[in-house]
Formats: sequence, C-alpha cells, structure tokens
Amino acid sequence: MLKTGGHIDYNTEVITVRHVSKSFGENHVLRGVDLKLHNGENLVVLGRSGTGKSVLIKLISGLLKPDSGTIEVLGEHVDELNEKELQQLRLKIGFSFQNSALYDSMTVRENLEFPLVRNKRHLSRAEINHEVEDVLDAVGLLNTINQMPSELSGGQRKRIGIARTLILRPEIMLYDEPTAGLDPITCIEINGLINEVQEKYKTSSIIITHDLACAKSVGDRIVMLLDGRFERQGSFDEIFDTDDERVKPFHDYNFIT
Ligand SMILES: Nc1ncnc2c1ncn2[C@@H]1O[C@H](COP(=O)(O)OP(=O)(O)OP(=O)(O)O)[C@@H](O)[C@H]1O
Ligand SMILES: [Mg+2]
Repeated sequence: MLKTGGHIDYNTEVITVRHVSKSFGENHVLRGVDLKLHNGENLVVLGRSGTGKSVLIKLISGLLKPDSGTIEVLGEHVDELNEKELQQLRLKIGFSFQNSALYDSMTVRENLEFPLVRNKRHLSRAEINHEVEDVLDAVGLLNTINQMPSELSGGQRKRIGIARTLILRPEIMLYDEPTAGLDPITCIEINGLINEVQEKYKTSSIIITHDLACAKSVGDRIVMLLDGRFERQGSFDEIFDTDDERVKPFHDYNFIT
C-alpha cells in the first residue's frame, strides 16, 4: 500500500523539539533530540525498545519535564505552562496509547460520550449523539454503538479507542504502537484508519511503531531514534538505504525471512 499523502504544510510546525535531553539517574535516554512535526504530517518514530520513544511523547505532552532543551506545541512552550494551561493544551492532543483501555462496564456509546460530557459541557444531547455517531462512522464501527467492549475484537477495541480520542477533535494525534499485538490484516486496517484520520480530521500525527509495514504505509516522513538522537530521517527508502549496523537489522527482520 502506498501513501496517498495528506495536505502537508511544511512551513508550519505544530511541534518543535530543540536539543532536548532527558536522563533518569545515570540512564541518559535522550541526548539532544531535535524534532519537527509539520501541519498535516504523519511522522513515524522508529527505535529499539527502551530508546526513549514513549518518554519523548510524555515530554511533548508535558507529563515529563526535559532536563534541557525546549519543546513547543501549537505555539506554546510546554515547559513554561502551569498545570491548568497544560490541561488546556492537552485537549488539543489526542493520545492513542498501546493499551488504551475502554471502560468495560460502559457501552461503546457511553465510552465515547465520556470525554465529551467531561470536557464539553455546553453540548446538547442531540449534539453529543451526533458527535458519537460521526466518529464511530469514521472508524467504521457505527454498528457496535450499543455493544460492550468485551464483545469486540482487539482490532475493534483499538478503533473505538481511536474514536474516543478523535471525539474531542484534537489537532495533534500521538499514536504509541497502534498496531502492537494485532494480526497482519488488522494492522493493515489500523494503518488505513490512521491515514483516513489524517485526511478527514486534518490531524498532524506522531506514530511510534516497531512495525515497518505500518511505518511505510502511514509515514510521510520517518525518523529513527539511535543512541539518544534522531540521526536518520527521510522517506522509508532513505532511512534504510544504509549499511549502519544499528539500522539494517530493523529492515531485515521485517522483510527478509
Ligand atoms: N518515569 C521513569 N523513571 C525512570 N526511568 C524511566 C521512566 N520512564 C522511562 N524510563 C526509562 O527510559 C528508557 C526509555 O523508556 P521508553 O518507555 O521511552 O522506551 P521506548 O522507546 O518507548 O521502548 P518500547 O519500544 O519498549 O516501548 C527506559 O530505559 C526506561 O526504563
Ligand atoms: Mg514505548
């Protein structure tokens, strides 16, 4: 599957990370990271387990503070915001976590209403219904509206999790391993969904993945975290056009049997 491309504005940066370092004791995880996310872009972040990909997302969303360097998100300096300002900013960021658990005791409809009722209190009943149905339709699961999460497959739950994130109409989506633990066909569906979300909701996204098929089909641009920095970036083919022994095994493991 080839990327059909969204409408990317390379002159507008929605996230700018400059020279960010983060250590936990003697564990120097990020060592001067620079990263840009452009408006409308799907940016894939690759890197071995433990290289700091999830830490990076936590820094971007203000859940962790950098030791040094600056992070700008939608024009705001994340490290200078107070808790209330951070909460406001986070409403514009959608997080799709690896184990984005749904509430098991609530129906799909109730799961989706939850963030709306909490964060957009001015909405009427009819508006809430409309929003819920719109995002469910976008993820192709309108027919599950009255079901319980336990009645859904892993891939369906993942889609509902993405719908629940989309319902607040975030400008930025952060996907942490969206296809982890799913079978190849479901992975292809989720990749398609990530591209549809980019098109329909005009989101700018960071997608963290170990799945190179995912990287290839969703990434407008790919960056690879190596030894605490983004040393390689470009298109899928550019990233892997190297003899670097830290990079080659990623490709070979995924594509050579
Ligand atoms: N709150 C924390 N306190 C101490 N160490 C932490 C904390 N969060 C992360 N780390 C450490 O930072 C490093 C990077 O962790 P991170 O979760 O970002 O890895 P990752 O690249 O997302 O890996 P994976 O691909 O397995 O998800 C790890 O060594 C981890 O132990
Ligand atoms: Mg992680």
